[in-house]
Amino acid sequence: MLLRVLVLYWSLQSGKVAESTVTPLRYNLTILTHLEGGAQNRYEGIVSIDLEAKKATRYIYLNCRYLNMFVEKTWLLRWASGKRITATDIKKNAKKPNEVTVVINLPLRLGETYTMHIFYTGNLNRPQKYGYFAGHYDQTPQIFYSLTRLEPDYAHTAFPCFDSPLHRTPFNVTMVHHQKFVALSSMPAIRETPHDEIRDYVWTTFMTSPPLATRQIMWALHRLEKVSHSVTATGEKVTTWARWQVKEKFAKAAELTPNLLKNYETLFGLPLPNGPDWGGKFDQVVLPGYTELYSGKGLMVYGEEEVGSSQNPLESLEVTLAELVARQWNGLLVSPSDWDASYVRDGINNYLAFQVLARDNKGEYSRTFLLTTRLDVLNYDSQTETKAIAVDVREIRHNKFRKHKMCLLAHMVKLAIGDKAFFEGLHEFFQRYSSSSASTNQLWEQLQRAARRSHQLPIGVVLTTMMASWLKQPGYPLLTVLRNNRDNKVTITQSRYYQKKMNIVSKDCWWVPVVYITKNISLPQVEWLGCVNKIAEVITLSNVVDPNEWLLLNVDAAVPVRVLYDLYNWRLISEALLQDFSQISELSRAQLVDDALNLAWSGQLPYKVVLSLIKYLSNETSIAVWQTAVTNLEKLQSIMRMSTGYRIFKLFMRILIEPSFKANFKPSSGKARTDAASKTTTSPDTQSKASTGPDTPSLSGIMYRLACQYEVKECLTDAHQQFQKAMDQNSTSSIPEELRETVLCRGIRTGLEYHWLVVRDMFFEAVKEKEKGILLNSLSCTTEYWAMQKLLGWALDFDKVPKTLTVGLLTAVMRTSLGFYVGNQFLVDKMDEFVRRFTNNELKSVLSPFINAVTTKDELYELQFLIKKKLKSLTSSSLTAMLEPASDRLHWRKYNYFDLLNAIKNITVDKDSQISSLWNSV
Ligand SMILES: *[C@@H]1O[C@H](CO)[C@@H](O)[C@H](O)[C@H]1NC(C)=O
Ligand SMILES: *[C@@H]1O[C@H](CO)[C@@H](O)[C@H](O)[C@H]1NC(C)=O
Ligand SMILES: *[C@@H]1O[C@H](CO)[C@@H](O)[C@H](O)[C@H]1NC(C)=O
Ligand SMILES: *[C@@H]1O[C@H](CO)[C@@H](O)[C@H](O)[C@H]1NC(C)=O
Ligand SMILES: *[C@@H]1O[C@H](CO)[C@@H](O)[C@H](O)[C@H]1NC(C)=O
Ligand SMILES: *[C@@H]1O[C@H](CO)[C@@H](O)[C@H](O)[C@H]1NC(C)=O
Repeated sequence: MLLRVLVLYWSLQSGKVAESTVTPLRYNLTILTHLEGGAQNRYEGIVSIDLEAKKATRYIYLNCRYLNMFVEKTWLLRWASGKRITATDIKKNAKKPNEVTVVINLPLRLGETYTMHIFYTGNLNRPQKYGYFAGHYDQTPQIFYSLTRLEPDYAHTAFPCFDSPLHRTPFNVTMVHHQKFVALSSMPAIRETPHDEIRDYVWTTFMTSPPLATRQIMWALHRLEKVSHSVTATGEKVTTWARWQVKEKFAKAAELTPNLLKNYETLFGLPLPNGPDWGGKFDQVVLPGYTELYSGKGLMVYGEEEVGSSQNPLESLEVTLAELVARQWNGLLVSPSDWDASYVRDGINNYLAFQVLARDNKGEYSRTFLLTTRLDVLNYDSQTETKAIAVDVREIRHNKFRKHKMCLLAHMVKLAIGDKAFFEGLHEFFQRYSSSSASTNQLWEQLQRAARRSHQLPIGVVLTTMMASWLKQPGYPLLTVLRNNRDNKVTITQSRYYQKKMNIVSKDCWWVPVVYITKNISLPQVEWLGCVNKIAEVITLSNVVDPNEWLLLNVDAAVPVRVLYDLYNWRLISEALLQDFSQISELSRAQLVDDALNLAWSGQLPYKVVLSLIKYLSNETSIAVWQTAVTNLEKLQSIMRMSTGYRIFKLFMRILIEPSFKANFKPSSGKARTDAASKTTTSPDTQSKASTGPDTPSLSGIMYRLACQYEVKECLTDAHQQFQKAMDQNSTSSIPEELRETVLCRGIRTGLEYHWLVVRDMFFEAVKEKEKGILLNSLSCTTEYWAMQKLLGWALDFDKVPKTLTVGLLTAVMRTSLGFYVGNQFLVDKMDEFVRRFTNNELKSVLSPFINAVTTKDELYELQFLIKKKLKSLTSSSLTAMLEPASDRLHWRKYNYFDLLNAIKNITVDKDSQISSLWNSV
């Protein structure tokens, strides 16, 4: 595997940077953009590059791709004589598609300065949205915009250049465009003058930039509105541009930014450059339908949907901004010198965003975030088809995965070397490589120096080697812990973790900091599990834990690994949790619950052990832990509900949920009461964070949803009353927002056809996307065939259901028993239309609700057949990867279903038995 990755890597490298016979000194770019829609979206440009000859040569190797250059419109000016040198040929190189050779009639003289002028043209219609591209939004009329995205290596697709992360030069940018567009670039505009020849066109000239790498320069044309603005402490202007429809959502964006800048400055102990030449300003461009975060100097771009899709729009806005602002240091001040290592930077910035937000008392949120990221990454990365994060396939899902796994790895490094060394190392890194570029290894080396200085890293551990083991291999390890009470030893070994039980034994190994505590020793201890010459080492710890004390590894989810203890230790931990769960920290509890349920899923741990562990959840007060549990239990539920064992599963879930539901529940008295309810939790663990705002999910909200789902009587009665009231008032505003979907769903399921129609009308009238989503999803709870058909039809009609809500709707539909059958048939009937309406990337998520609902072989085969037939471009390996969750579910149904059922039977049949009685047969 490693070999293949390296080969890929090198094939990417070769021919990327043009062999340099010259050094660029300055760029002068003039871009004339025709942004009129369709094939009319094109641009022409003149790039003038001041350069110094490093060789006497008639050949100049230039990076240029997908652009048209013309021999007669390419020439050089020799500064010394003012004479013109003409180009005689422009040659493409078949082996290096990113490069052209400009042949000139007179050789350059070593050490002399020239200006090279190139006229070129390009096309803006690039579906992948890289280089200089056009996009549009809104239907009538369509509104166009154009934007650059030059990272990691697209600059030469936007203008001919010497594309290298190593050169930094000043840039002059001038844009020629229709006056209805606002032109932005990395620097502030200094002049706008009308164009003499083209009607309604203007020239916008920008200030000269400080030295930048080619990929850091940006420009854009748009027709968005200025929705907010502010000024930073050093007087730099911050402006947010967005559609007027979402004005409110982004009203705070500009004013959040100065504070973030200040916090990072403190965190890194290093201010950003400023002063008149720096031309500091921050334009934030918020675009609908844009799925990435992007920024260069002076300009930040993110999608409308990036913010607000999660539970709390303001917080997700803050995280998005925090990540973009972190790039000002890690990305702009110091840019990555390896071409394809920007994922390392993005992952670290993602992590830093949570560090900086935690400073403003968002500790709770960063914990939740870390857990959500962990759940997602560990789940995705345990499939057999995953790729190492160093592998550069430009695909949305992989990019997200790279960033998130890297974020967890940043957390690992920080926990392993300590906060102090981590931030000192970063500070020194930014200082040392300020205004230049550095490789990923240079970052690890700097962190290592700081760690060694504070004696936080054993000499035997080399950070670059350690990180390579995580970046260049797919997957992550399972740590297996065996306690031997006779001689009081603990043995820890590692092997790759697969979600599915594998027949092959993988020989992969990683460098893992093993952070552990015991019942007695609550100060985390660190031991390193090595991987030398691809051979996994084994740790043996002597006398660290008494036979009757529990041992806990990977404290606070330090490392992305799973931990499998022996049955004895599982039992000690389960008992400790039942006794007093607060002796184990929140993050560790979440990890225990997550690991146990996943290990049981893959057949490596009996369900009776897991059920004994999660039994304590009845008392659990942490939202994060419950969310982790619910995510895993829902996966079980989605299979169990199609089996005869469902009645027993429901019974078990009721036992688990009821105490917590009742402790948090106050029957509705008519007023919205989310706030009061979330404060009824009594544990010191949650009390301090209960007040994070009305939008944060509360434990009572989660419990309400579960209680109604598993038919706890009090919940059903309450939901019924709330639904009636809403119907009487012809408005849902009396239902607290976080309960709304549950209440409406219940109401529609047991209500009249008329009620469905009322909610449908509310859906059509709702304006806010979140509200629309809630109403739409609850419509799927209908038991009427015709209504379900109608609803599914809307999934393909973007005027009725915007694309952003499609996946949510399909998921909701497939979760209901009627929807499951109608939905599957609908997909078979309408697959062609799905393929027509969604891009391949969108299809992957649109089809996931169907894949995640598969419970039988026949269903899987049918789905596989359908996708193969209609999605011809899909390779067989990506088809396998896509369907892996489904085949995984079948595997579980076949091998683990009865284990779960029996374990539940044993708990539910004999409710009062002591937990230890479960262990008699162990
Ligand atoms: C740079 O571009 C501007 C705007 O097109 C132009 O007026 C100026 O002459 C150019 N400078 C050089 C050196 O080409
Ligand atoms: C770049 O812009 C600055 C200020 O507008 C101007 O003085 C300078 O001549 C420009 N450079 C080139 C090469 O055109
Ligand atoms: C743990 O604490 C108990 C009592 O507090 C003590 O007897 C025991 O020796 C301790 N064990 C270790 C390993 O320190
Ligand atoms: C857990 O909850 C039960 C009631 O559901 C209660 O009797 C018990 O004391 C609680 N245990 C702890 C450790 O809080
Ligand atoms: C409910 O309210 C909407 C507008 O708010 C109105 O169009 C509709 O007629 C009302 N329905 C009933 C039954 O009052
Ligand atoms: C359930 O309990 C019975 C007796 O208590 C035992 O024989 C059986 O093995 C248990 N099954 C499981 C799956 O634990």
